[in-house]
Amino acid sequence: MSQAEHNAGTRRDFLYVATAATGVVATGAAVWPLVNQMNPSAEVRALSSIEVDVADMETGTQLTVKWRGKPVFIRRRTQKEIDEARAVKLADLVDTSAENVNKPGAEATDQNRALDDKGEWLVMIGVCTHLGCVPLGNNSGDYDGWFCPCHGSHYDTAGRIRKGPAPRNLDIPKAKFVDATTIKLG
Ligand code: FES
Repeated sequence: MSQAEHNAGTRRDFLYVATAATGVVATGAAVWPLVNQMNPSAEVRALSSIEVDVADMETGTQLTVKWRGKPVFIRRRTQKEIDEARAVKLADLVDTSAENVNKPGAEATDQNRALDDKGEWLVMIGVCTHLGCVPLGNNSGDYDGWFCPCHGSHYDTAGRIRKGPAPRNLDIPKAKFVDATTIKLG
């Protein structure tokens, strides 16, 4: 190959790469307004902390919000769910760590996983600790909590792994109440 041909080849490669890159940018620009319109939370997805209004949440319901690109489950538990979670002995758990960044090193009691003392509120990253699927909620699985159908992991009403291949309880992110009806994540 002559030097001229080589240069032409290099230039063509360069042009190809540049064109491809432009295409990516253009696609990104075209898709963004649509996503933004469909999902207002998309614009806050990248923020390090968000506040979630839970004033309208009924007992026995779950809200899923996107935070840092991941689903976060916010569940307002029934008394039955709280009682079930609090009746479990640590010795019966697969993972005895609370997996709660707000209480590093704490044991996996329900009290150490719930957001409030009464145990009404449970906030967890909604990502199965096996291979990362999003578990089903609303009293799913053998333990009345969450169930990941991907490979059959069952979590109890405190989000603790009880059966199946997942090695750890569902992770609890940095979270706190900033007023009576607002939970801050991050
Ligand atoms: S990803 Fe949840 S059981 Fe495999």
